[in-house]
Amino acid sequence: MSHSNPNLSVTREIRFKQTPMLRTAAPGSSNKFLIAGQGVLIFKFKTAVTPDFSTELSFSKADNSEGIRLIMNAGYLKLFRYKGQHAEVLFETAKGLPNDKNAFFWVSLDSNNRCYRFGTGEARLETLVFEYFFSSTQSNSFLHNLTDYNFNAALIQPMRLLRDPVQNHVPMKVKGMDELTITDVASAAFMPKANLNSIGQQLYENVAGKKFVLNDDDFPDFAQAIEYSIATPGCWCYETLKTKSDNKPAGLSKQIYLRITLGQNGGESPGIPYVMEVWPPGCFSSIHNHAGANALIRVLHGEIKVHLYPYLGAPKTYNPEGAVFGKGDVTWISPTLNQFHQLVNPNPDGPSCITIQCYMYDADDSGHYGYFDYIGADNQVTSYEPGSDCDFLKFRKIIRKEWENRNK
Ligand SMILES: [Fe+2]
Repeated sequence: MSHSNPNLSVTREIRFKQTPMLRTAAPGSSNKFLIAGQGVLIFKFKTAVTPDFSTELSFSKADNSEGIRLIMNAGYLKLFRYKGQHAEVLFETAKGLPNDKNAFFWVSLDSNNRCYRFGTGEARLETLVFEYFFSSTQSNSFLHNLTDYNFNAALIQPMRLLRDPVQNHVPMKVKGMDELTITDVASAAFMPKANLNSIGQQLYENVAGKKFVLNDDDFPDFAQAIEYSIATPGCWCYETLKTKSDNKPAGLSKQIYLRITLGQNGGESPGIPYVMEVWPPGCFSSIHNHAGANALIRVLHGEIKVHLYPYLGAPKTYNPEGAVFGKGDVTWISPTLNQFHQLVNPNPDGPSCITIQCYMYDADDSGHYGYFDYIGADNQVTSYEPGSDCDFLKFRKIIRKEWENRNK
């Protein structure tokens, strides 16, 4: 399968290329891992998981004389080790596959740590369904010699092959070289900027600088002036937000924020690459994805809380408590990780939150899907074209004028 296969459009939310510390490639016709004994295959099913659905995925030696086979169906997942005609059950789950047309899956082989993992959604520990550790006597050179993956192409759509196995929790908060400590690395509490993919690093450089802030010498009260505009009837933010809120269905009046864009759409990103987003107290976004693009988000004012989802339409978040980012914090999105999220201003009584987001497709993303998808009111995946409520320079002028006239 070619990486630019147009059939991948159904899986555009994960146009995998590079993720931090993961070098990736599209599944090829050779069905070879990039490195013997390790890798992740991400895939989805071509048909619904009905009660009579069953299929298998195996990792094998090149001659398929032995390997590991996973049987998957609605009732259970069952892992075997096989050699010739002989097969031994290693592990069986009590629950099978979900029948969810939006779901996708991953299988990770890690011969160095003698571990086999299966998960639903983004390939990461948080979406793990089961793991099986081989004993040292079981494995020896067996796992290292598994070079191929095999599946029924009528039932399984491979989406991506990652070079490196799923092993560690991947931190959401990014730190640059001058902030990163030895303890940060030892505890894996932060994502070193240098470990973002090359586009992620570029985006970081764009927005993480000391002077990339709201309040500058020219307008030292900019953040406060935006708060004033949000809170004051007749002001631009208040009225624009009110119109948005009035147009929302019942119960979603707080699912609103402002998109203030910087510059033009240069064809490298879904919508305009830089967007300043303004989140009034307690307001939130839909659960959405990011067109398989890279993104950086920096908090300029207030706090934002991020809930992550395994895939769009997944029944629940896997970090229900949310990850909260404060002023100056930076978080990231890659084509393979952190794609599915909901943002919330966690402070119902204020302050508002203001973030800057910066987006860019991967260099080899030939699809340039231009929409963010979300789950609409009818529970269907729906496309959203990232738009603009106002250009940044115009916005700044409006806010300044309102601020200067506030007591008149
Ligand atoms: Fe987003």
